Amino acid sequence: MKALVLAGGSGTRLRPITHTSAKQLIPVANKPVLFYGLEQLRDAGITDIGIIVGDTRAEVMAAVGDGSELGIQVTYIPQDAPLGLAHAVLIARDFLGDDDFCMFLGDNFLLGGVSDFVAEFESSTAAAQILLTEVAEPQFYGVAVLDEAGSVVQMVEKPANPPSNLAVVGVYLFRSVVHDAVRAIEPSARGELEITDAIAWLIAQDLDVRSHLVTGYWKDTGRLEDMLECNRRVLEGIAPDVRGDVDAESQLVGRVVIEEGATIVRSTVRGPAIIGRGTHLEDSYVGPFTSIYHGCTITGTELEHSIILEDCVITGAGRIEDSLLGKSVTVVRSEQVPRAQRLMLGDHSTVSLP
Ligand code: G1P
Repeated sequence: MKALVLAGGSGTRLRPITHTSAKQLIPVANKPVLFYGLEQLRDAGITDIGIIVGDTRAEVMAAVGDGSELGIQVTYIPQDAPLGLAHAVLIARDFLGDDDFCMFLGDNFLLGGVSDFVAEFESSTAAAQILLTEVAEPQFYGVAVLDEAGSVVQMVEKPANPPSNLAVVGVYLFRSVVHDAVRAIEPSARGELEITDAIAWLIAQDLDVRSHLVTGYWKDTGRLEDMLECNRRVLEGIAPDVRGDVDAESQLVGRVVIEEGATIVRSTVRGPAIIGRGTHLEDSYVGPFTSIYHGCTITGTELEHSIILEDCVITGAGRIEDSLLGKSVTVVRSEQVPRAQRLMLGDHSTVSLP
């Protein structure tokens, strides 16, 4: 069995971060979202993995490399434009051959992995198997309708009037017949070849499409709130581990990870929280559900419930909460007069002043 992981797309709801970076590489508890999926595929026994890449291909390729560090073997498949999930299957035909495969959307985050789901499919004869979960607002997802036996009888993409509350999670299992389906369908109203339509085509051919309900936590990490929530869920499960230097005037409370080369001076870190390698924290407070990535310098600042990417410099910034800072962001208190907020923000930035 192979896997096809989608790491293209534009991530418009996470601008400005995604103007320059891949949304799939935003770290959750200091590990890129995409890596959780790749590791779960590996743990399910799938190591031959094709990754669909778009405009952010250089960054994705630099982060994942040939996959050997993750114990997988990666083939990159460039997609010139985000033309849909079924289009990704279409262009991956040579890589996939006639093998069964798992399609995994690189911005989807699952706790609990995919091993059971994959094993269930491998022991069945179904043409496809989809992962479903009950949601409050199904109109924002692909939606499925099941019969009493759990077979999928209807599939519809982001319906205005959802026929059920079962949302399609971004992990799918297919036999090679799906290649006929992706060739048979037409682009949707949003101009994309929808995988939902390809699955509906399989159902229309009287092929068996099975479902599996997600019991654990799942999130499509499309927005800031989703990233913060995933970060919270992963940090809730971390084990304390201190590898960096913590001076005598600092205090670590609860589950705190301090990575190698991090230095904590006259500061308090109240977990669950993670401080990345080479990050320097001085006269600061880091509160629960905060992930600070590599190489940051934080001085005289309080940070809580936030994700800070690499190489940020934050000095005397007061208290920062519920925030996501991109790479190499600088936030400083200035003594310059007139006293004013001085901002240099990228397109689509958001600033919320107290
Ligand atoms: C895609 C699928 C949708 C599915 C969702 C899960 O939506 O089209 O059926 O429910 O992923 O994350 P998109 O992210 O393209 O809006």
